[in-house]
Amino acid sequence: MIVLVGSEKGGVGKSTIAAHAAVRLAMTNKPTILVDADPQSTSWSWAEARKRHQPEAAKVDSQQMTGDIRPGIESLAASYGHIVIDCGGADSVALRSGMMIAHRLIIPSKVARRDLETLRHVSTLVLTANEKREASEQSPLLARVVFNMTRALPNFWSRIDAARATVESMGLGVSKYPIVDRVSYDDSQYQGGTVFDGNHDPKAFEEMERVLKSLLRKEQPE
Ligand SMILES: Nc1ncnc2c1ncn2[C@@H]1O[C@H](COP(=O)(O)OP(=O)(O)O)[C@@H](O)[C@H]1O
Ligand SMILES: [Mg+2]
Repeated sequence: MIVLVGSEKGGVGKSTIAAHAAVRLAMTNKPTILVDADPQSTSWSWAEARKRHQPEAAKVDSQQMTGDIRPGIESLAASYGHIVIDCGGADSVALRSGMMIAHRLIIPSKVARRDLETLRHVSTLVLTANEKREASEQSPLLARVVFNMTRALPNFWSRIDAARATVESMGLGVSKYPIVDRVSYDDSQYQGGTVFDGNHDPKAFEEMERVLKSLLRKEQPE
């Protein structure tokens, strides 16, 4: 499976979710690579640290790419069962070309109004990509927004519901499962880890497992 993680905002959890998706897919024992198409190189550095510090953990290869990533991804698909692409936080050539080849697009977002507004343009990009894909008889790109860094407070649920309605009105689907703001996501990334490595925070483990299981399943994501 080719999974693209992208949005037009920085600091919303793209690299975090890309790393977790790569490890989750690597745990299925198919060769997995995390492609870093973000000039900030967060994912590449994370994967390099993982190779160095966690040789026993589920293996994730890594590579950096820029510009039109389609030919590079097509050639990686010959040797990797799973490819996760961290596309960074801009409307880039990498993001647009990635949309032409990926099976899934995960769009992390906070529920704040300003963050939601940037999704309007992402929705247009998905629509355009899907028109082109349909014209070349390719299956559609399944895109889902995932709310990240939410709060585990009962009164936050109404904010999430309102945000979901806003995003759906823009024509984008939203994952049923949000990801809560937890220090363990930040802490676990030290030296190339994730919440799937070791068992430091069972709540974060279960939450990320549920989110990714839904987003990466063969059928439509929930
Ligand atoms: N659910 C979360 N809870 C707590 N911290 C998070 C969460 N998701 C991401 N972070 C932290 O927020 C920061 C930005 O995340 P990152 O994945 O680098 O964002 P992006 O790639 O979109 O710029 C990082 O320090 C990361 O560890
Ligand atoms: Mg990043």
